[in-house]
Amino acid sequence: MTGDDLPLLEYYRRHGISPVAQDISDLERHVRRRDSLYRLLGLPPRFLAGRSVLEFGPGSGHNSLVTAGWGPARYVLVDGNPRALAECRDLLAVHGRLGPAVTLVESRFEDFRRPERFDLVLAEGCLPFQLDPEGLLDHVAGFVAPGGLLVITTVSPLSIAAEIIRRLMCRPLIDPALSLETQLARLRPLLAPHLAALSGRSRPVDDWLLDNILHPFHETRCLALAQAIDRLADRFDVLGGSPAFWTDFRWYKTLTQWDRGFNAVAREASRRSAASLIDHRVVIGHQPDQGDRLEAAATDLWQVMCTLERRRARDPAPAAAAVKALADHLALLGAATLAPCLDALREAEDHLAGRLPAERMTAFPALWGRGQQYLSLIRRADAGGCGADVE
Ligand SMILES: C[S@@+](CC[C@H](N)C(=O)[O-])C[C@H]1O[C@@H](n2cnc3c(N)ncnc32)[C@H](O)[C@@H]1O
Repeated sequence: MTGDDLPLLEYYRRHGISPVAQDISDLERHVRRRDSLYRLLGLPPRFLAGRSVLEFGPGSGHNSLVTAGWGPARYVLVDGNPRALAECRDLLAVHGRLGPAVTLVESRFEDFRRPERFDLVLAEGCLPFQLDPEGLLDHVAGFVAPGGLLVITTVSPLSIAAEIIRRLMCRPLIDPALSLETQLARLRPLLAPHLAALSGRSRPVDDWLLDNILHPFHETRCLALAQAIDRLADRFDVLGGSPAFWTDFRWYKTLTQWDRGFNAVAREASRRSAASLIDHRVVIGHQPDQGDRLEAAATDLWQVMCTLERRRARDPAPAAAAVKALADHLALLGAATLAPCLDALREAEDHLAGRLPAERMTAFPALWGRGQQYLSLIRRADAGGCGADVE
């Protein structure tokens, strides 16, 4: 496989972009944001001091800046986008974080090989939307030392259903023959107000549009929480997550086997809280099979989107039907708290079916799902073998 076969990298490299900036104008605020994430992952930042850290896909380094500041003894950053790596190097240097502990490596993840194992391996925002996310997960997980920690992000069609709908809405405005700047100028008036409705957002509007709307996804695959847990289950135990969607009331003194069922607890909770992924304003529990049906309906929506994008087609009927099916499944839960989400989906259906102009939508602009979820996992000390790709 050549570099050009990797959709995510190829898009960035072809256009010479790294559209992954975070707002760090208030650096203290950014550090607190990252501190909050690490707490939820069960890793107080102080515990990074003196440790070895390997990060896949640092992008332009806005998050790595904070990680470097927590004082790892060794910090290796791997990214295949030369522009991202150059920006990352500059950012670390400007903030005095490019010390001897830091090594930047320009490489495709798939080609990165080291005999070394690390205390902490980070793969944030770079496993979903790959050709083979599970294969890549195996590869990055292979670098975690026994007893060490892996931090990944997952995305399911349900957690990005609102973004899938936005991509479907934007199809008539997207023309790959036009420059990115021209396409951005078309998209901004429609979607900037939607982004303004999302509190806590830290990415510039244009970066978000480049990374989430113009980025070709049709050959790629999501990586859902349950998929990631299942893939790693023989080697890793989940530790923490953001959102923190499970509780474990078992008495620790009863947990005396190596396989203590941590993964099963988290996996079951993910099925019971799936509906909470579709709208960040909602926390709701339900039966596990209802979660499976919602995820299946959202997967149909994802597939409709991929098919339309692959064919560069604009036929609105399948998209409207897939949104209707998802809304119908959600309505079966009968929860009053889901009413704003259902209103939003009904509007989206009407819009995609040509019955409602975008400027008359009032509920949908505020619909944002939980996007990517974070998961931390401990490599079991008893787990034999390493990642398949590590020499
Ligand atoms: C979406 S950005 C995430 C940036 C940052 N970690 C964050 O969460 O904000 C993904 C990064 O991973 C890199 N990347 C994705 N797939 C890659 C691959 N197969 N090999 C090397 N780099 C890759 C991209 O170049 C990009 O910088």
